[in-house]
Amino acid sequence: HDERTFVMVKPDGVQRGLIGDVVSRLEDKGLKMVGGKFMQIDEDLAHEHYAEHEDKPFFDGLVEFITSGPVFAMVWEGADATRQVRQMMGATDAQEAAPGTIRGDYGNDLGHNLIHGSDHEDEGANEREISLFFDEDELVDWDLGT
Ligand code: CMP
Repeated sequence: HDERTFVMVKPDGVQRGLIGDVVSRLEDKGLKMVGGKFMQIDEDLAHEHYAEHEDKPFFDGLVEFITSGPVFAMVWEGADATRQVRQMMGATDAQEAAPGTIRGDYGNDLGHNLIHGSDHEDEGANEREISLFFDEDELVDWDLGT
């Protein structure tokens, strides 16, 4: 199959009713959802997911935020999917993100930036994050019929 990438609507995006919009944008782009889960992240999963930020001053706030309410975790598939999704998300700091991007259109904050996507530069990031959130049998192989 094509490249798979991990994407998550964060608690602020869920609160603001943006799950459907994020899904629509990725569907419209021609990417294919192969896994999706509405869930509450617990402390342990938050620590694992953000392990690389453990020493940063914003780590505690980050864990508090990501566990503050439900998220919608997804796996999307497509050629160069990781880079495509990152382009559509826009810059990490939503204040800097270009209009037309998801963060640029809806976000106004560095921490509350609506959506997470795997890092394109970090080769293992996708596999690591997908397996942290999904069992293999929760991912569905199907054809978009294009
Ligand atoms: P994301 O790239 O999804 O994962 C790490 C998150 O840490 C990032 O989104 C931001 O929301 C958050 N983050 C990065 N830098 C800072 C910062 N200086 N202060 C607060 N949050 C930050």
